[in-house]
Amino acid sequence: MNKKPLILGIESSCDETAASIVTENKHGMPIILSNIVSSQTDVHKEFGGVVPELAARSHIEKIDLITKKALNESKIKIENIDAVAATAGPGLIVCLSVGLSFGKAIASSLNKPFIAVNHLEGHALSPKLNAKLNYPYLLLLISGGHTQFLSVNELGKYKRLGTTIDDAVGEAFDKTAKMLGIEFPGGPKIELYAKKGNPNKYELPKPIFNKGGCNLSFAGLKTAVLRIVKKIKTDQEKYDLAASFQKTVEEILYKKTKIAFNEFKKINGDKNNTFVVAGGVAANKKIRQTLTKLCEEENFNAIFPPIDLCGDNAAMIAMVGMQKFKLNQFSELDHPAKPRWPLDVDAAFLKGAGIKL
Ligand code: KG4
Ligand code: ZN
Repeated sequence: MNKKPLILGIESSCDETAASIVTENKHGMPIILSNIVSSQTDVHKEFGGVVPELAARSHIEKIDLITKKALNESKIKIENIDAVAATAGPGLIVCLSVGLSFGKAIASSLNKPFIAVNHLEGHALSPKLNAKLNYPYLLLLISGGHTQFLSVNELGKYKRLGTTIDDAVGEAFDKTAKMLGIEFPGGPKIELYAKKGNPNKYELPKPIFNKGGCNLSFAGLKTAVLRIVKKIKTDQEKYDLAASFQKTVEEILYKKTKIAFNEFKKINGDKNNTFVVAGGVAANKKIRQTLTKLCEEENFNAIFPPIDLCGDNAAMIAMVGMQKFKLNQFSELDHPAKPRWPLDVDAAFLKGAGIKL
């Protein structure tokens, strides 16, 4: 192939409307020509969380404009696009449907291939946007909806080693923020509050810390925060609680990642020691530091996406689209939106009562 492919990526799985154009250099490294992300913070602020119908309406209003912006910024004419990749799941079905239908319509009108992309695969491979990364590697995916350890064996081939049995870590950050009266989306602000507080002020629980392998649990942590919040009076106490929460999450991730390293080595041998952290929570600097320190101790190579590519974006979707394009892995135009679409389809569903760990 002489001409390098130009891929349009579209993302609308939750509350970010995003479009991006990605190509690659002669060494096969992705080049982001444009990456436009429009967040809906103002739309959901007064409700304290994402309201699916409002999110979908906002996607409908903006997707055309955001895609035009991505094309303008990249200086690429739409007719020169080689394929359109859009997130097909997992996510909010009313939101997914907007970007998916829009992507299919563009592909169909240009008579170019359409590629359905798993949003989690976008996060999983996101460090490839700026670093050379060989398979297999261990992935810790920490976002608003997912917390999982996966062995990433190749494009489309994942083995889940551990997962949360209840809340995702991003969800725990957001709910703690809400309880502290921080405006949505509060997760990133917990990190700022934590800087001003005493991390040893409150003792918070670490559910399934000493059992369940590298599975994780955060629901008990949230309940404990709720109990303490009711007694809190001053701003300093809020900062102390945020700091105690941040520290507890770091301790849980440190311990569970250490276990995951061993599980990963059992499958892939001692020579594969690359550890990738991706998803919105990977933007948390203290978590990055804690996991980098663990990697130094355990002789793993830590890789994080740049902060601006940790959260939802379409560059990661276009990049996965590019990889699939090169393998001729195209999708039909009737590809459904999938609210649930695990990376490891063989892994047991581990949520709800009665789980045996
Ligand atoms: O990957 P993402 O943008 O969307 C999902 O696919 O879920 O992740 C969003 C999550 C939210 O829960 C948000 O609060 C959390 O990532 N987050 C953070 C930080 N930045 C984003 N959590 C902790 N510290 C941060 N700095
Ligand atoms: Zn995401």
